Amino acid sequence: MKVIDLRDLDLKGKRVLIREDLNVPISGGQVASDARIRAAVPTILYALEQGAQLMLMSHLGRPKEGVSIEEQPEVSLAPVVKHLAKLIDKKVRLVDDYLDGFEFGDEDLVLFENVRVNKGEKANDEALGKKLAALCDIFVMDAFGTAHRAQASTECVARFAPIACAGPLLISELTALEQALANPERPLVAIVGGSKVSTKLEVLDSLSSLVDHLIVGGGIANTFLAAAGNEVGISLYEKDLIDSAQALQNKVSVPIPLDVVTAKGFDKAETAETKAVSEVEKDDMILDLGPDSLAEINAVIKKAKTIIWNGPLGVFENEAFAGGTESLTREIANSSAFSIAGGGDTLAAIDKYEVGEQISYISTGGGAFLEFVEGKKLPAVSVLEERAK
Ligand code: 3PG
Ligand code: MG
Repeated sequence: MKVIDLRDLDLKGKRVLIREDLNVPISGGQVASDARIRAAVPTILYALEQGAQLMLMSHLGRPKEGVSIEEQPEVSLAPVVKHLAKLIDKKVRLVDDYLDGFEFGDEDLVLFENVRVNKGEKANDEALGKKLAALCDIFVMDAFGTAHRAQASTECVARFAPIACAGPLLISELTALEQALANPERPLVAIVGGSKVSTKLEVLDSLSSLVDHLIVGGGIANTFLAAAGNEVGISLYEKDLIDSAQALQNKVSVPIPLDVVTAKGFDKAETAETKAVSEVEKDDMILDLGPDSLAEINAVIKKAKTIIWNGPLGVFENEAFAGGTESLTREIANSSAFSIAGGGDTLAAIDKYEVGEQISYISTGGGAFLEFVEGKKLPAVSVLEERAK
């Protein structure tokens, strides 16, 4: 990776526009988990200390394009601005109307309102990218979590900005993952949880040729259970992907759950029951793994020298179905293996069980982290390489 590093540039008096990934969970108008904001802070403070005239931009969620923020206030970055200002103790102004230029005031820095309401953002529209580029002297890509998206605020803007460089967070994410994956100490174990196989099938496939053990959880595990001929009742699983799950089983060892926690529905925690997979009934929903499955997983983790983790094992937001994810989180935290974790739910689990200090590397990326692990080129990084030539 050969890109221009922000820290090699003179920022004094320059209009610096940084793309961050401040896409954090918001609940009741408050930031519910600020891991991504905290990760962006060193870059922001660095640019301020260097005398930049600082502009930040980010997306939040997946809003409707071309619809004003007044009409969809739930995707406003207002709670993020408030949280960030407090964290860094600076005056931060949220600017809604910036595409055709705006005036700086007495604030220390500005944050542009959710870039995903701009028409053309998702399509990586050239006219939009050019407008963003025209706002700055230096464009900084620091949003590792969004680097797998070729969108106007991540890719096109970098093509047209006078200078396009990488920020410290992006660089440290890429370096850490590159090092961890280039020559991993073995056994190498990957844990992929979450709800759907389809969105993660490609990564499971790439991982199967990279890792020694593949552990699956959540809806993914249900699909593997069904592929092995088990009843999965009304559980979340993907019928169409049973063949793919079987094919994967032939490539790498994937332990199939032995027991599970079921309930008669997603919101029927009072009916929670731990049972062997052979006892799952037609009206059962599998919402977590049981103790025997966890013992099987823990035995694999105990032998691991490198661990890659993305996704929870069950519906851990609900205490009745949190046992699997808690056990996994603690086992990884206690392991002496080099552990890399990434993804929104994964970070939430790490936060919930307060084990952040015991994970070797925590990535701010979810999809980007997985695509990197798959060996895919991240488009927002490719354009920076192009611009460094
Ligand atoms: C994420 O949370 O995965 C990143 O912020 C990217 O968001 P997206 O998946 O909506 O593109
Ligand atoms: Mg995503």
